[in-house]
Amino acid sequence: MLLLLLLIASVCSASANTQTYTDTDTDTYTNADADKDKDTQTSSQCQHYSLSNLTPTNYGYTGALNLVNPGPYGGDVKTLQLFVYFQTQQIVRIKIIDPTTQRWEVPYVNQMPLPTNKPQFIDYNIKFQRDNFGFSITRVSNGEVLFNTSPPADCYTSGMIYEDNYLEMTNRFQETNPNLYGLGERVAPLRLQNNFTYTLFAKDQGTPVDLNLYGSHPFYMHLSPSGNAFGAFLLNSNAMDVVMQPRSLTYKVIGGVFDFFFFMGPTPESVVQQYSQVIGTPYMPSYWSLGWHQCRWGYKSANETFEVIYKYAQNNIPLETMWNDIDYMNMFQDFTLDPVNFPADEMKLMIEYLHTNNQHYIMIIDPGINTDTSYAPYNQLLSSGGYITRPDGSAYVGKVWPGFTIFPDFFNPATTHFWQGQLAAFHDMVQYDGIWIDMNEVSSFCNGDVCSSQLTSDNSHAAQQQVSLHSFDPNNPPYLPGNVSLDMHTINLTCVQYGNMSVYNTHNLYGYSETMVTVAAAIDILQTRATVISRSTFPGSGHHAGHWLGDNNSEFADMYYSIPGILNMNMFGIPMVGADICGFGGNTTAELCARWMQLGNFYPFSRNHNAIGSMSQEPYTFNEEVTAISIAAINGKYTLLPFYYTLFYQAHALGTPVVRPLFFEFPNDPNTYALDTQFLVGTSLLVSPVLDQGATAVVAYFPAGPWYDYFNGTRVPDSLYATLVAPLNVINVHMRGGSIIPTQPTSVYNVSGYPITTTIARTLPLRLLVAIDNNNQASGQLYVDDGISPNTYEDGQYTLVNFQLNLKDQIFALEASIIQQGYADADNMFMETVTVYGAADPVTQVMVDGHGYTDFTYEQSTQVLSIINLKLPVSGMFVINWYSD
Ligand code: NOJ
Repeated sequence: MLLLLLLIASVCSASANTQTYTDTDTDTYTNADADKDKDTQTSSQCQHYSLSNLTPTNYGYTGALNLVNPGPYGGDVKTLQLFVYFQTQQIVRIKIIDPTTQRWEVPYVNQMPLPTNKPQFIDYNIKFQRDNFGFSITRVSNGEVLFNTSPPADCYTSGMIYEDNYLEMTNRFQETNPNLYGLGERVAPLRLQNNFTYTLFAKDQGTPVDLNLYGSHPFYMHLSPSGNAFGAFLLNSNAMDVVMQPRSLTYKVIGGVFDFFFFMGPTPESVVQQYSQVIGTPYMPSYWSLGWHQCRWGYKSANETFEVIYKYAQNNIPLETMWNDIDYMNMFQDFTLDPVNFPADEMKLMIEYLHTNNQHYIMIIDPGINTDTSYAPYNQLLSSGGYITRPDGSAYVGKVWPGFTIFPDFFNPATTHFWQGQLAAFHDMVQYDGIWIDMNEVSSFCNGDVCSSQLTSDNSHAAQQQVSLHSFDPNNPPYLPGNVSLDMHTINLTCVQYGNMSVYNTHNLYGYSETMVTVAAAIDILQTRATVISRSTFPGSGHHAGHWLGDNNSEFADMYYSIPGILNMNMFGIPMVGADICGFGGNTTAELCARWMQLGNFYPFSRNHNAIGSMSQEPYTFNEEVTAISIAAINGKYTLLPFYYTLFYQAHALGTPVVRPLFFEFPNDPNTYALDTQFLVGTSLLVSPVLDQGATAVVAYFPAGPWYDYFNGTRVPDSLYATLVAPLNVINVHMRGGSIIPTQPTSVYNVSGYPITTTIARTLPLRLLVAIDNNNQASGQLYVDDGISPNTYEDGQYTLVNFQLNLKDQIFALEASIIQQGYADADNMFMETVTVYGAADPVTQVMVDGHGYTDFTYEQSTQVLSIINLKLPVSGMFVINWYSD
């Protein structure tokens, strides 16, 4: 009976290594201790579909699913088709569609072509429960059940439901209260709660804790008790709830199809890499965009903006990029300048000044186009036809800063043309270097059709007609994720986009589609990489652009939440991310801003931004101490730019995160599972900021080390927790034994009145920091290119150096080997200093490329070796040896 009910699919290819595969063993279906026997009986109460005709294909399986019992809301699809695609050794895709009626499927995002053949080896077993349909995915190496949708006999989880406007699927876990991460966007601790409903629906609603915010990311990572990581991505753009219970996770989705990608890892990092194979690896940012950014809402004029630039210089604070918010616009209309406060000639002068000093300028653009009939972009968008419409084909009108607006439909090719034209024409007037796209959830100050009804009685008639034509209300579908009308703070979900796409389906893609079109336009206009940050994101956004975490408040709690925020986005493939430093809403304090300047300069994207009406928070506005702390913090970031840039190269080439939670590197250490008050930059730097008001010490966790003080090389005593001294001017950062990181120390190069920029920073002599591990080894990389041209990596126009430290016969050897030599200017970049942390034995001899070298110091008390005054070109191999004689 068991064997009849439980269809075990054998998925090995002919050449499979039988040691790797266990899937032919019919007893391997060990879902969970207690459940095992229950699985042998099928209850019909939770049965919705049965599986038939399961057939092996070249790429996996296909099968038919037949409705047995309907779900709760009607419109059950009678027959479904199941596809299983063995994409790669670690990635399997399971897709369930209605073969007779085309349902909504997410365009653009998936970068992974359908396989035509099965991979030679696979790390997963797929098994199907036939009568009460469900499937399970098992990790071959250890038999862990990673995802199991087969309902058990007691029906504590239900079978799949597949209706016109409701999809449901439950995955039950092997263990209780599993460690789960992801499912954004929201302000929340890193580790997800096990008894909570997470809503995924892009929304502009400030930053309340635990509610759905600007982006939708239906991806989660599961860290098993074994320390293995697994990832599940549901490629679906409809609103959904994900209901977490201690033993299960249920997707409740209001449309589209089930299109899952499962990632076997087994490390957390490799799960993210595998996810990036599907959604696209992160874009390569311009080097300059890693510099320091100053912004605020409420710089009232070009003059005031210029004053900020000037004060930065006067206070000797590095400033890479000056930003303007909507203040610069004429009546908040895109692509215009306020003629009184931001006249074109003053803007031109200001931006020329910035450019002369190697600084940059970015301004905001909102999607809503004001319906003022004398406003040219409105008329152009209208005549292009590239706007979002109501079901009757008329332009949908909402309301944003300029008043009534229509919304470009970024899926419409006509809009691409319109948007590109507007951005190009605006660039002729304002020579911006990057674009900040906001309000693209898409945010509207009217809920749904409220604005239309404010406009004319005609419009409200059309709106009413819409509701009366269909009893189904897309704004309030029978299952309502988040339990709040979906048109709250946004446009009506009855609206229509290009090709008759319904906003009911596309809502979550608005920011993503705007990002793609804006980035393409920026590359075309600037002929460089694009520097774009978007508020609303979807899986794949990070392939094109960056993100900031939105409207936080000037509170210590918000500073803490920024850490899980940036870590999540790194999991979602959007490593170029930061929070508004010093806080957006409310008034900051000198102490909070000083702490946040320190922490924020470890974000990949570092920008101080502030709301209108809040007190000023530029780093020089407080006192000399905060100014000095800010200078040190920004210099700290600039010093680390070669390291961050190399991490971005790795993200771009390999899909790895730039910053990551500690559990990524220590997945067998339960102390790291919920740790989100500290984080790692790459795999090498541990940042342990002060997050509490008034605190002058921080209790930091140190997983298996050794760990060294990043700033002075002192080794941290081997114990799990340490109380670190942290007066206001100190942020604790530690370097992990085994790592080598390239830096370009900047502080000594600041000359008053001439602000340092990344342009200067990247020409400075390099210093290699080497932290020795318990095996007397260390390794690292340096990636350099021109920092601005598109596709340098793809075109091979970069230089990549590997550094490796080994000990042999009591002699340390640090070797630089060239992996790629495609950036000519690397010849002019020199390694000047090598600093070694953890040089336990006194060093008496140093050799560089086989020759004795005497310019070094060795500090016995700290065990730090410094080899100085080197001139080793980055483009050349070298070997440095040291030993005691
Ligand atoms: C909302 C954005 O999140 C914020 O950063 C910006 O300052 C305001 N809109 C005004 O444009």
